[in-house]
Amino acid sequence: MKDRIAIITGASSGIGEATALRLAAQGVRMVLNGRSADRLTDVEQKVNAAGHGTIAVSICGDIAEKQVTDACIAACHNTWNEYPSVFIASAGRGLPGTVLTSDENEWDHLINTNVKGLMHQMKSISKTMQELAEAPRDFVAAPLDIVVIGSSIGRNVSPFNSVYGATKFAAHGLTEALRRQLGPKGIRVTLIEPGLVGTNFQQAAGYDPAWFDSYSKEVGPILKADDVAQVISFLLNLPGNVHLDNISIRPTRQAYP
Ligand SMILES: NC(=O)c1ccc[n+]([C@@H]2O[C@H](COP(=O)([O-])OP(=O)(O)OC[C@H]3O[C@@H](n4cnc5c(N)ncnc54)[C@H](OP(=O)(O)O)[C@@H]3O)[C@@H](O)[C@H]2O)c1
Repeated sequence: MKDRIAIITGASSGIGEATALRLAAQGVRMVLNGRSADRLTDVEQKVNAAGHGTIAVSICGDIAEKQVTDACIAACHNTWNEYPSVFIASAGRGLPGTVLTSDENEWDHLINTNVKGLMHQMKSISKTMQELAEAPRDFVAAPLDIVVIGSSIGRNVSPFNSVYGATKFAAHGLTEALRRQLGPKGIRVTLIEPGLVGTNFQQAAGYDPAWFDSYSKEVGPILKADDVAQVISFLLNLPGNVHLDNISIRPTRQAYP
C-alpha cells in the first residue's frame, strides 16, 4: 500500500474521512477533496499525523465541476510525480422525501452532485487509469482501483426517500457499466452499498433528527464511518486479480432497505 496514491472525494467528513485515516495508517499518499476548506484542512492534518509526514494534500472544490477531479489528478502528479492508483468517490448528499414530498428546488443540485458529478469523476479518472493500465504494469501486484459509494437505497426502492434513491440507482448502473468496460483492462471498479451510517450525511441533507434517532434505535447499533472504511481497506489490499466488486454493508438489524 505504501506505493499507492489515492484520491478521495468527500474526504472532509464521514466515510471519506474515515477511509483517508485508514489508508494513512498504511502509508498511502493522497489527495483529499471536499468543499469545506476548514474541515478539509483539519482532516489533512489528522492524515499527516497518522502517516507520520506530509502524505496528504487538499483540493477544495465542488466535485460537480469537471475541472475539480482533473485538479485532484494534477495534484498527484505535481506533488509526487505519479498518477493515482486508487480513486474513492465518496462525495455525495441526501434529500428527504419522494417525488411528491421532496423539495424540487433541490433536485438540480442533488442530481448535479450525485449523478453528473460522479460521471465527471468517472470520466476523468478512467482516462488516467487507462493510461496507467496501458503502460507496462503488473496489475496483480500493483492494482488500479475505482471505488464508488452507492447506497442500499440505490438497490431497494424506498417509498419514503425515492429521489435520493434514484440518484444512487444511477450511480449503481454507471458503476457496473464502468466495471464491465474497465475490468478487462485490469482496473477494478467497485461499488459499496452502505445501509445506515452515522455521519454528517443526515444533518447536511436535513433528515428529521427525531426520525433518525428513532430509526437508529430500531435497527442499531448503526454503522460507523470506519466500518465502511475497514471494508474499503480490505478490498484495496487484495491482489489485483481478485475483485470483490459489489459489497452491501448494513447494520445487522437493518432488514430494509
Ligand atoms: N451516511 C449514510 O447513512 C449513507 C448511507 C449510504 C450511502 N451514503 C453515501 O456515502 C457517501 C458519503 O457520505 P457520508 O455518510 O460520509 O456523509 P458526510 O459525512 O456528509 O460526507 C459527505 C462528504 O461529501 C462531501 N461533498 C458533498 N457534496 C460535495 C460536492 N458537491 N463536492 C465535493 N464534496 C462534496 C462533503 O464535504 P463538503 O460538505 O465539505 O463538500 C463530505 O466530505 C455519500 O455518497 C452518501 O450518499 C451514506
